[in-house]
Amino acid sequence: MNSVAVKDLGKTYSDGTQALKTVDFEVKSGEGVVLLGHNGSGKSTLFKCITGFEQPSAGSIHVNGQLIDISDKPSLKETRKDIGMVFQHFNLIENVSVFQNVLFGALGRVGFFAKTLAPFASDALRKQAMECLDRVGLSHLAKQRADKISGGQKQRVAIARMLMQEPKVVLADEPIASLDPKAGLEVMDLLWEIVRERNLTVICVLHQMDVALKYGERIIGLKNGDVVIDQKNSQLAACDLDWLYETTAEKDEGGSENGDQ
Ligand SMILES: Nc1ncnc2c1ncn2[C@@H]1O[C@H](COP(=O)(O)OP(=O)(O)OP(=O)(O)O)[C@@H](O)[C@H]1O
Ligand SMILES: [Mg+2]
Repeated sequence: MNSVAVKDLGKTYSDGTQALKTVDFEVKSGEGVVLLGHNGSGKSTLFKCITGFEQPSAGSIHVNGQLIDISDKPSLKETRKDIGMVFQHFNLIENVSVFQNVLFGALGRVGFFAKTLAPFASDALRKQAMECLDRVGLSHLAKQRADKISGGQKQRVAIARMLMQEPKVVLADEPIASLDPKAGLEVMDLLWEIVRERNLTVICVLHQMDVALKYGERIIGLKNGDVVIDQKNSQLAACDLDWLYETTAEKDEGGSENGDQ
């Protein structure tokens, strides 16, 4: 059961910023969800709470049935093994090889840093890392330093690293925001192919509505820290999503215009 259950989640930061109000949704095993929302709507905060890097102020989160509890470090460590992350800025270690970056994906599983270092890693782990690189079409770049490849290639390496982790749930926070449109769509194609072939549960933050509707089977929209849209893709058109990005003033203006007609 590769699920993510978020119940009445609230998060107020120590400076008083209320990033999440009462967020409630459940993503079932194998579901592909795109999370949309304006800057500051709380998307990354939600991911940080799901991965236990931020303590919620209210509510609860279960990943694969396991409660996310920051104070229970052993349990959190176990649950984190199942959560693969893909980031906007790739989060690769730039001064080591592509192959080494992928090997680091196994760290949570094997437990010992040294065992994920290329010279000491087992043959089985090295073979698996090459297979992951091959899956993203980059085995020919295994020896290349990570800072010497393009953005699109970096994100493919990050996806290979995520595969190496063998996660059950994938959280992708704006995975294509640093890429040009062509590279972005190639990365989305690859990411979605991989999550589908492995039946992974995925929540992917995007800012492009056309891309969101192309890939997300379900769209969740956050606005000012609350879920305001939670619908199947088939029930939505791009214009239904515009208001997610409207400010209150714009909305009020639109409302009075419509009223005058
Ligand atoms: N560590 C923090 N301390 C205080 N406030 C924070 C902190 N992190 C985020 N915030 C605030 O919480 C709100 C939600 O931020 P968050 O980063 O979750 O939004 P987001 O939807 O991911 O935005 P973006 O689309 O720009 O990435 C914002 O008002 C932000 O300024
Ligand atoms: Mg964010």
